[in-house]
Amino acid sequence: MISVKELTAGYTPGIDILNGIDLEVGRAEIVTLLGPNGCGKSTLLKCIAGYLFPRQGQIYLEGDDVGRTPVHLKVRHCALGFVPQTENVFAALSVRENLLIGGQFLHPRACQERLQQLCELYPVLARKLDAAAASLSGGERQILALGRALMPSPRTLLLDEPSAGLSPKVLAEVFEAIEHTRRKEVVAILMVEQNAMEALGISDRAYVLAQGQVALTGPARQLLEDPRMRELYLGDRAA
Ligand SMILES: Nc1ncnc2c1ncn2[C@@H]1O[C@H](COP(=O)(O)OP(=O)(O)OP(=O)(O)O)[C@@H](O)[C@H]1O
Ligand SMILES: [Mg+2]
Repeated sequence: MISVKELTAGYTPGIDILNGIDLEVGRAEIVTLLGPNGCGKSTLLKCIAGYLFPRQGQIYLEGDDVGRTPVHLKVRHCALGFVPQTENVFAALSVRENLLIGGQFLHPRACQERLQQLCELYPVLARKLDAAAASLSGGERQILALGRALMPSPRTLLLDEPSAGLSPKVLAEVFEAIEHTRRKEVVAILMVEQNAMEALGISDRAYVLAQGQVALTGPARQLLEDPRMRELYLGDRAA
């Protein structure tokens, strides 16, 4: 469960990238974050994850005020999983090694059991356990990144563009894996996406950011039909 209140944040002194964001993600909900390039989507995920601290406002995970808790402590103590936009797997390591790194804070036996569980959840990982991550296809790599983040059984999962660069068929497979995750694991998922239509298709709700603020929010189905979506975000694609 994520709750963000009036969040302001930025990198350079005096320049706010996020400017008063309010956002909620409930248990077992999939919520998509949309918006044009550079509007602050990854920055918001980085703030929730703890790579960047708020200038103002609060971030709660499952009711705890964690605005100033760094990412490594959130992963270890706040049941947070984070899949960044780029470099989300260790390319030189095998699939198994990547998963084991995800489970590094677990007891070794629990880690092995969880690895087995995730191999059952995502058979593609089981088939490629000893392959180097570098040899995986784009879709397989995204599923490995998801699997790695899921190793410690997070209750909050942040995904930054899990379908980036994937063909429509593979994109559908990755989204199916995400939906599957929501069904099998009780986890609140906040996902940044550029493939708006497809992402809304598997989401409960969405937020559209523009210039560091929430420009539009509502149930995914409703947003799919909202003409303001076209204006704000879909542009020519929906024309
Ligand atoms: N480490 C950084 N230092 C300084 N400025 C940054 C840093 N990371 C991002 N920014 C700036 O913050 C703004 C928002 O970037 P962010 O990565 O959050 O956008 P985004 O919505 O995720 O875009 P995209 O869709 O292209 O991934 C941009 O103007 C970017 O240049
Ligand atoms: Mg981004």
